[in-house]
Amino acid sequence: MRVLGIETSCDETAASVVALDGGSAPEILSNIVLSQIEEHAAFGGVVPEIAARAHVEALDGIIEAALADSSVSLDEVDAIAATAGPGLVGGLIVGLMTAKAIAAAANKPLIAINHLEGHALTARLTDGLDFPYLLLLVSGGHTQIVAVRGVGDYQRWATTIDDALGEAFDKTAKMLGLPYPGGPNVEKAATSGDAGRFAFPRPMKGSAQPDFSFSGLKTAVRQAATAIAPLGDQDVADICASFQAAVADALGDRVARALVRFRQEFPGQAKPALVVAGGVAANRTIKATLEALCSQAGFAFVAPPQKLCTDNAAMIAWAGIERLRAGIADENTADFVPRSRWPLDSVSMPLVGSGRRGAKA
Ligand code: KG4
Ligand code: ZN
Repeated sequence: MRVLGIETSCDETAASVVALDGGSAPEILSNIVLSQIEEHAAFGGVVPEIAARAHVEALDGIIEAALADSSVSLDEVDAIAATAGPGLVGGLIVGLMTAKAIAAAANKPLIAINHLEGHALTARLTDGLDFPYLLLLVSGGHTQIVAVRGVGDYQRWATTIDDALGEAFDKTAKMLGLPYPGGPNVEKAATSGDAGRFAFPRPMKGSAQPDFSFSGLKTAVRQAATAIAPLGDQDVADICASFQAAVADALGDRVARALVRFRQEFPGQAKPALVVAGGVAANRTIKATLEALCSQAGFAFVAPPQKLCTDNAAMIAWAGIERLRAGIADENTADFVPRSRWPLDSVSMPLVGSGRRGAKA
């Protein structure tokens, strides 16, 4: 099986060919990602219209490059898989319409993929993980804990009631005058900071409600910064370190709860797995916290390579292969309309405010 994947839901234009032959491990034959960071940097965040236009300009060339790199011709592809939501609708239209046109011209099936399903199934592409497992998705637009039970079978256990975690990093960076994207710059500044200088709140810690919240923490950071302004480099470093410590602590509390629930609901597994995905998973303090939690709780900690944790099209092609293999590819075919909101788990309704402000809301 060979599937061409296309991803355009936010600020990466991406195409990839993934192959699965018989019983052997899947292979990423090509994986091209063009980031639009430079186009958006001056605005301190993703501008939807600029993103859509940049996708239009780049996508044809990116798809050609992905096919050329894989040495697979369009004729040899079994299906075209494209992200159809959730995300910025302009970009989704560009990717999905392009995929529909290619599928129609080459007489191949089209599979419309939920971007979150791409993230959710990546650990099976990279690590051959068996179902079920627990997923923590922490990106610029999403902060969710999901029980991944099978292809197309997801249960959301927690989401954010306000900001996504990456968004909290980006807004904190902006407040402190650090460049976009904020996450890596906050992490860098934090390395020379004193995490004990500011006692920031740990939102939701100990709460019986399983969800996340980061807007109160963001407000606390703003108040601390205003109180000691003008900020010197050491102040910025100390705020970043204290913020990161609060985030890791709050996140750890939420995840620890989910690990206990996972044990209860799936008692058959001797060593279940926690998978992390999303740009924030690159953060070393957060990673170390999660790794320690997993080792205490007897869970395997699985972090796919960073290139496959952030947005890419290999995960979309792979989700297409998983759907083809499971015989559920024809649910999402050529008449599919892009969906800016598309929960993975149709049973869990969106929480008020959750993900509505982020670029990928
Ligand atoms: O997954 P991703 O590349 O795109 C989305 O799907 O949103 O995630 C981007 C987010 C941004 O908010 C960025 O600031 C954050 O991930 N991020 C980080 C780090 N690297 C990226 N946050 C904290 N620490 C990092 N090292
Ligand atoms: Zn994503």
